[in-house]
Amino acid sequence: MRFEQRAVVVTGGAKGIGGGCSRVFAEAGGLVAVLDLDGRAAAELADELTATGPGSAVAFACDVTDFAAFRETVDEAATTFGRLDAIVNNVGIHPPATTIDDSDLALFETTMRVNFLSTVAGSKFALPHLRRTKGAIVVVSSMTAVLGQEHSTAYAATKAAQVGFVKSLAIELGPEGVRANAILPSNVDTPLMRDWAATLDDPDSALDRVSKLQVLGRMASPEEIGRVALFLATEESSFLTGQAIEADGGAALDY
Ligand SMILES: NC(=O)c1ccc[n+]([C@@H]2O[C@H](COP(=O)([O-])OP(=O)(O)OC[C@H]3O[C@@H](n4cnc5c(N)ncnc54)[C@H](O)[C@@H]3O)[C@@H](O)[C@H]2O)c1
Repeated sequence: MRFEQRAVVVTGGAKGIGGGCSRVFAEAGGLVAVLDLDGRAAAELADELTATGPGSAVAFACDVTDFAAFRETVDEAATTFGRLDAIVNNVGIHPPATTIDDSDLALFETTMRVNFLSTVAGSKFALPHLRRTKGAIVVVSSMTAVLGQEHSTAYAATKAAQVGFVKSLAIELGPEGVRANAILPSNVDTPLMRDWAATLDDPDSALDRVSKLQVLGRMASPEEIGRVALFLATEESSFLTGQAIEADGGAALDY
């Protein structure tokens, strides 16, 4: 019950890593705003989490790239729960593998808006509420921020931008007791991962290859990343801020 009677907004909280975060926070007794473009999936998960307990969840259908709607939704979630203790800025897209020659600027603009500007927006909109609770900002970045990824210049650039943002934000908010940290997963078994594999010639062997990239020999589950997010949102990480936590199953070792 590490998050009992405390409230969190999880963006992209219906499926994948966001779904794992919603689940873990609710299992810890939290009040979870499952914010997602897919309102139906958000409602289904929120109902399930509330029925299971011990926490509870409310679904919010929202597109994080519609910044006015996003601000309203964060405020509405804080009003619904009477407080806000954390936001997990998790929404992200991964465009199909594309060479730099075939990546037009519109691709960079779109990916930046969804992955990076939504992170800035969510952090800004949550901040007035987080100042009251001395809460935490958690950002789901990626190991591609530090390692790069072939034919993924747009994606990796947005993930690196998140890390730079978190570090500077942590400096600014530290004196107010609001912490900001990023999680850098390597490969996680989510719909995004499986959709990406489906674009390749042999999806099964691609998923097998991706699993073996970790020294643990497998991908992470969404809940494993959710547990890192919960850690970063509670006092258990009270002396961590501005960090980029490499939750990579050892993928960067022994290169
Ligand atoms: N899956 C991986 O291996 C992996 C690795 C490293 C980092 N990440 C990062 O983790 C985050 C989540 O990835 P995932 O694999 O769980 O993705 P996913 O596609 O499986 O799930 C994303 C969720 O976000 C929602 N969503 C998408 N666009 C949205 C929008 N504009 N507004 C609101 N909700 C929206 C989707 O409906 C979905 O529920 C991303 O930021 C991604 O870059 C994923």
